[in-house]
Amino acid sequence: MTEKVIETIHYTIFFNGEGYFTLQNKLPNYSSLFIMTDTHTSQLCLQHLLRLVPYLKKARIFCIPFGEKEKNIQNGLDICRKLNKENADRKSLLINLGGGVITDSGGFFASIFKRGIYFLNIPTTLLAMVDASTGGKTGINLDNLKNEIGVFNYPDLLIIDKHYLKTLSNRELKSGMAELFKYGLIADNFFWEEIKNRSKHMHWDDWNEFIYQANLIKNNIVTEDPSERKGLRKILNFGHTIGHGIESYFLPTYSPLRHGEAIALGMVCESWISWKMNVLSQKQHEEISKTLLSIYPFREINEQILNKILKYIRQDKKKLQEDIHFSLLREIGICTYHHKVSNDIIKQSFQSLKRNNSEIDD
Ligand SMILES: NC(=O)c1ccc[n+]([C@@H]2O[C@H](COP(=O)([O-])OP(=O)(O)OC[C@H]3O[C@@H](n4cnc5c(N)ncnc54)[C@H](O)[C@@H]3O)[C@@H](O)[C@H]2O)c1
Ligand SMILES: [Zn+2]
Repeated sequence: MTEKVIETIHYTIFFNGEGYFTLQNKLPNYSSLFIMTDTHTSQLCLQHLLRLVPYLKKARIFCIPFGEKEKNIQNGLDICRKLNKENADRKSLLINLGGGVITDSGGFFASIFKRGIYFLNIPTTLLAMVDASTGGKTGINLDNLKNEIGVFNYPDLLIIDKHYLKTLSNRELKSGMAELFKYGLIADNFFWEEIKNRSKHMHWDDWNEFIYQANLIKNNIVTEDPSERKGLRKILNFGHTIGHGIESYFLPTYSPLRHGEAIALGMVCESWISWKMNVLSQKQHEEISKTLLSIYPFREINEQILNKILKYIRQDKKKLQEDIHFSLLREIGICTYHHKVSNDIIKQSFQSLKRNNSEIDD
């Protein structure tokens, strides 16, 4: 068990054991305790937490249904009503135990109830461990539009315990791995090579190091530009401009994509744009698309679907007429931001998702 920590500007990230001791010692300082879970994490993760932090047996549990659709304002109102009924005050603590849906929305609900109560995150999916639970972005979706409502706010602390990954499906692990690929592409070519080489035969012990390294990369970027005003933080959005459009389109369908799956497709398109705009070499674009398309499921995107996705992308960026700005790759490991991209190029980039069937390896 590693006992590493990362001290961010606002909070400490604990990797495994030590965080639970710190948490147990801090708990008596709060006026009341609440834990937010979804229907999966209440069954699969809560007992582990209660066993390691017995003081939390005093906590009141709020459980919402699982899934991206639950990142909505109705759940926010419901949680706020429950907090109010339980006499929560500004010294209360909400612990978000779950994947990115729980850490994003729970962080947001804690931020708006009585103008802010304390919260902390215990991420239980790979995706939340390496991305969603860290960095201070909290929020919910507005209908199908991703993360339209939210605030920057920080947890009191963060505990990353890979024990929770034991019950995670292969599909969810792959979804989280997409964000690991992203870190390699935007900031560290060595990390890209490592994750690429081991992605298909990941060993249980490898996760600790990958998760830790990913948090170091993200923390370096977020420390430089915490609220995305200077610009550097925009590189974390690589793959997300198109990826969010794809995710939003499929969200209300019978087979929604996982966040990481949509982002992986978004990264293929945006690496194609990087190449077409003479920022990235063709060779590196091909390496990226071959790697990602051999892991992530392909979706048929016809002209009609494409037009709907483009509409989501424009709504997401609030740019109905003008060109949209993208973060693009200069080479694997280096990403730059503020590239204006025309609608035509965005549309054409979807060609890059058509892969050769011989490459499929699901
Ligand atoms: N705030 C940010 O900076 C940021 C960054 C990246 C992603 N996100 C957001 O994160 C969300 C995606 O997160 P996610 O992929 O974790 O989704 P999720 O929270 O929906 O979790 C995925 C599924 O795994 C289940 N689950 C959670 N923990 C489990 C466990 N230990 N064992 C078994 N099942 C478990 C959940 O119940 C759910 O069904 C998206 O809404 C995305 O927008 C936010
Ligand atoms: Zn993401």
